Amino acid sequence: MPPQTALIIGASKGLGLALVKKYSSLIGPSNVFATVRSTVSDDPNAEEIKPFPEGVRVIEDIDVSEKDCGEKIVEGLQGAAVGLVVYVSGVLKPEEMGKANWDDEIMMYTICSIAPVFVVQSLLMSSSLAPDAKIILLTSEAGSITLRTEGEGGGMYGHHGCKAAGNMVGHLLSYDLKERGVSIAMIHPGFLKTEMTKNAGMEEFYDKMGAVTPDEAAGPFAEFAEKLNLEISGRFWAPMGARGIGNAEEVLGKEVTKKPGPLELPW
Ligand SMILES: NC(=O)c1ccc[n+]([C@@H]2O[C@H](COP(=O)([O-])OP(=O)(O)OC[C@H]3O[C@@H](n4cnc5c(N)ncnc54)[C@H](OP(=O)(O)O)[C@@H]3O)[C@@H](O)[C@H]2O)c1
Repeated sequence: MPPQTALIIGASKGLGLALVKKYSSLIGPSNVFATVRSTVSDDPNAEEIKPFPEGVRVIEDIDVSEKDCGEKIVEGLQGAAVGLVVYVSGVLKPEEMGKANWDDEIMMYTICSIAPVFVVQSLLMSSSLAPDAKIILLTSEAGSITLRTEGEGGGMYGHHGCKAAGNMVGHLLSYDLKERGVSIAMIHPGFLKTEMTKNAGMEEFYDKMGAVTPDEAAGPFAEFAEKLNLEISGRFWAPMGARGIGNAEEVLGKEVTKKPGPLELPW
């Protein structure tokens, strides 16, 4: 059964936008809350927010690098209790030795591993989660220490580190959420053809590494969300299996690449 209501945090583009469309078609746009950073009326990029299906309940002015983001999301829900929360917001700022960037790292850690704690805390403490709600944090296979290899090398300190930290906080949250009947999973959504990967210069690897559009990734994502329950809560999954995970074959073996998803990923 799909959720009765869904909250997509970080919905302006990419996977977040694809999930808003997916859940709008599954449960109706008026049951989908979508947070964006901008204020539509004042924003010169307001056009970009229009692709939301008519009737989606847009919560504006949610910047998850700000301390009060959790409270503001709760306010935007106007008393609704949501059945599915998807925390999508993320930033990728590549780094290499000699060019590590303090401010970028603070931003990435704040968005990917600090804010999720405060958002979940606010939702839980304000009774904004339905009794059997599910939470999904978009982390990344990049946050798996096991999947990092000598061949791939170092760098990407803030990005990979903040995703590993996101996996850790999600795992810890699972213990706090379990007693309330709420499950949580950390997800690698696949290698996606989005602004994030384009801006990081990854477009040239799309074909070789099995990149998919966010709309293509939204299907396996929604199927996984349906399967998520307390038994498998607190763990790290790839709904599309090993597809789009560059080091999967080298680290996890060839067999893994032949299986369909979902694949449980190592920390
Ligand atoms: N793309 C991939 O291959 C890939 C792989 C593994 C994991 N992921 C993860 O999947 C998620 C979605 O990725 P994507 O490729 O769809 O990225 P994207 O197209 O760059 O979209 C990122 C989203 O995060 C939002 N965001 C960024 N900073 C924010 C902030 N301070 N406050 C609130 N929202 C903020 C963006 O909003 P604005 O429009 O306002 O900037 C946008 O909605 C990310 O967490 C990413 O790390 C992606």
